[in-house]
Amino acid sequence: MNNRPLMGIDSFIDRLRSFEAGIITRDSVLDFCSSVQITDSSLSPYTHFDDKFYTRNLIFRDDIFEVMTICWQPGQKTAVHTHNGQLCWMIPQSGNLGVVDYKWMGCDHPENQNVVGIDCLAGSEHTKVEVVREVEACAGGPVLTADKLQTIHRLYNLSEKSERAVSIHIYSRPIDSCVAFDMEKRLCYRRQLAYFSKYGEIAPKDEPAGLRVIQ
Ligand SMILES: [Fe+2]
Repeated sequence: MNNRPLMGIDSFIDRLRSFEAGIITRDSVLDFCSSVQITDSSLSPYTHFDDKFYTRNLIFRDDIFEVMTICWQPGQKTAVHTHNGQLCWMIPQSGNLGVVDYKWMGCDHPENQNVVGIDCLAGSEHTKVEVVREVEACAGGPVLTADKLQTIHRLYNLSEKSERAVSIHIYSRPIDSCVAFDMEKRLCYRRQLAYFSKYGEIAPKDEPAGLRVIQ
């Protein structure tokens, strides 16, 4: 456990929104996220688990910030993915996650990155990405980021059998789709993202799938 002052998620979001008046940098939001401990009780409306896939649970969204919990059953993991050129902060709330960072080493359609508003059209069938590092993200430990220099990673619940995990994710700007990588076939494609719940309410089942693992 750390010595950070406790804060409910509503107050946390109020403080986060104060950054909207100025230039938002990775480090300024990182300092804020690292200075407080969000209470578990304030997150209970946004804590939902599913046996098949990890869940994305929207807490707040405007033009600048998107805040959600991601809830992980043992062994659940994401595909290797990008962040649409946006910034992401991840606060490990409970349990232990693994993070594998990757570096893009080339593909047969690099020109597809020349697009406005998203990071890449994707669609390469010969993508090369290499592991840069693997780290653990433990509750109460450091806040992790994905940024414009390190934008490709995979997240997973380190516990294979027993322990659930909850993490809080902040994106600026919000991300509706990203590039995902099929590591076996070495191809990449754009994937639409969806929520398991929004503002505490379970989202309709017919919404498109989230960023689900594909291997
Ligand atoms: Fe991510």
